[in-house]
Amino acid sequence: MKALVLSGGSGTRLRPFSYSMPKQLIPIANKPVLEHVLENIRDLGVTEIGIIVGDRIHEIAPVLGDGSRFGVRITYIPQDKPRGLAHTVVLAREFLGDDDFVMYLGDNMLPEGVADIAAEFTAERPDAQVVVYKVPNPTAFGVAELGPDGEVLRLVEKPKEPKSDLALIGVYFFTPAIHQAVASIAPSARGELEITDAIQWLVTQGADVRAREYAGYWKDTGKVEDVLECNRHLLEDLTAEVAGEVDEASVLTGAVVVEAGARVVRSRIEGPVVIGAGTVVEDSHLGPHTAIGRDNVLRRAGLTYSITLDGAEVSDVRGLHGSLIGRQAVVGGSAQHRLVVGDHTRVEVAA
Ligand code: DAU
Repeated sequence: MKALVLSGGSGTRLRPFSYSMPKQLIPIANKPVLEHVLENIRDLGVTEIGIIVGDRIHEIAPVLGDGSRFGVRITYIPQDKPRGLAHTVVLAREFLGDDDFVMYLGDNMLPEGVADIAAEFTAERPDAQVVVYKVPNPTAFGVAELGPDGEVLRLVEKPKEPKSDLALIGVYFFTPAIHQAVASIAPSARGELEITDAIQWLVTQGADVRAREYAGYWKDTGKVEDVLECNRHLLEDLTAEVAGEVDEASVLTGAVVVEAGARVVRSRIEGPVVIGAGTVVEDSHLGPHTAIGRDNVLRRAGLTYSITLDGAEVSDVRGLHGSLIGRQAVVGGSAQHRLVVGDHTRVEVAA
């Protein structure tokens, strides 16, 4: 089996971050979403991975390289613009050959993995197998209607009136039967070749298409709220490890990771918290559920349930909660509110 990871797209819901970095590189528990995805695929025993990349290839390729760091082999497959999930299968035709493959959306996190679902697909080899999950807001997703044995009866992309609450959650198992399907469909109302329509085409042709419900934790990390919530979930499994320096005046409780070269001085850290390499934390109160990137400077800062990216600085600001602070961003206190913010930024100031 091969894998096709989708890491193109425009990331409009993650602005302003997606202006300066592809959304698939946003760190969750201090590791880019795409790295979590690759590790997940490698754990299925799949090592040949094609990655669909748009105009952000020059940012993604230096991070992932040829994949050897993860024990996989990566082939980058460029897409000129987001023409739809099924379009990426057309582009990857040569890479995929006549192999079965797992298609994995590069912004979806399934930390418990899909090994059991993959094993079932390999053993029974239906024409296609999708992974579904009960959601409270099915209108935001592809939605599956299933028969009593998990056979797919109908699939609709973002239906206005959903007939079920089972969403497609970004992992699909395909045999080469999908190639004829993606070649047979037309673009949707939003102008994209939808994989949902391609799978529906298979169903209409009488193919054996099955769905399996995922039992673990799942997040589409397409929005800031979801990134923070997923970070919280992953940090719950953190194991304390102090490789950097912590002075005697600091107090660490719960699972706290202080990476090599980081320094914690006169601060209170309430785990789970991870502090990236080279970061300085002074006179601050961090956590719980907070991931601080590399080479940050935090002085007299208070952050809970937040993420900072590499090179960020926070000083003289307490009470930050649910915040996502970008690379090299500077957040500072002053007697008055003074804001220098870019396009599509959201700032909420306590009254
Ligand atoms: O998250 C699950 C949902 O993902 C499913 O329920 C939907 O059926 C499916 O269509 C998809 O919906 P989204 O609207 O969330 O898809 P998004 O545009 O965010 O794209 C998903 C990933 O695929 C993302 O990493 C970007 C990448 N992508 C997307 C398009 C449209 C590409 O690489 N190329 C593309 O042309």
